[in-house]
Amino acid sequence: ATVVVLASGTGSLLNALLAAAREPGYPARIVAVGVDRDCPATAHADAAGVPHFKVGLKDFSDREAWNVALTEAVDEHEPDLVVLAGFMKILGPAFMERFGGRLINTHPALLPSFPGAHGVRDALAYGVKVTGCTVHLVDAGVDTGPVLAQEAVAVMPGDDEDTLQERIKVVERRLLAEVIAAVATRGIVSDGRKAEIPVSEHA
Ligand code: GRF
Repeated sequence: ATVVVLASGTGSLLNALLAAAREPGYPARIVAVGVDRDCPATAHADAAGVPHFKVGLKDFSDREAWNVALTEAVDEHEPDLVVLAGFMKILGPAFMERFGGRLINTHPALLPSFPGAHGVRDALAYGVKVTGCTVHLVDAGVDTGPVLAQEAVAVMPGDDEDTLQERIKVVERRLLAEVIAAVATRGIVSDGRKAEIPVSEHA
């Protein structure tokens, strides 16, 4: 399966996916990286020899024009899957129309708890003892799509947002690579609210 990864941040998740994709037998290939701003993610793409493109919101007259341009830039690579690895923009109707159903995001909290841009901070502030990460299909909402995989991460005494975020990212880097490989080989069955990755018959 071919994958386009979209990122906006440090790109540590992207970097983990690039490393996983280099493993012999990994069933997915990252064919391009897209960013919405200048960020370290493109350096990881360069280091891995993967082409990248930038579609910056401020280069467009309005959000719709930006979303159409981003959709076209991704579509050029004709990916089987699009993966959001710390992509900090809400994708609009044009993008959902084109890639809905094969668009995966990872969120650093156990959805539906703590959606939005500050899931780690909100969980810490709430005082939960366990949080985690969620890999899910993206739907028209924010962090509301069908859950594909989750893993719990303990909150430790003395944690601050950075230490907790890093502990979650360690799990995300593995979980996201595992989910992409599973989807690439076995697909997704989704009834709209729920999604399952079929268990392989030779489990
Ligand atoms: C990840 O924790 C992801 O869940 C969140 O943004 C973070 C991306 O981290 N949406 P990085 O930019 O890949 O280091």
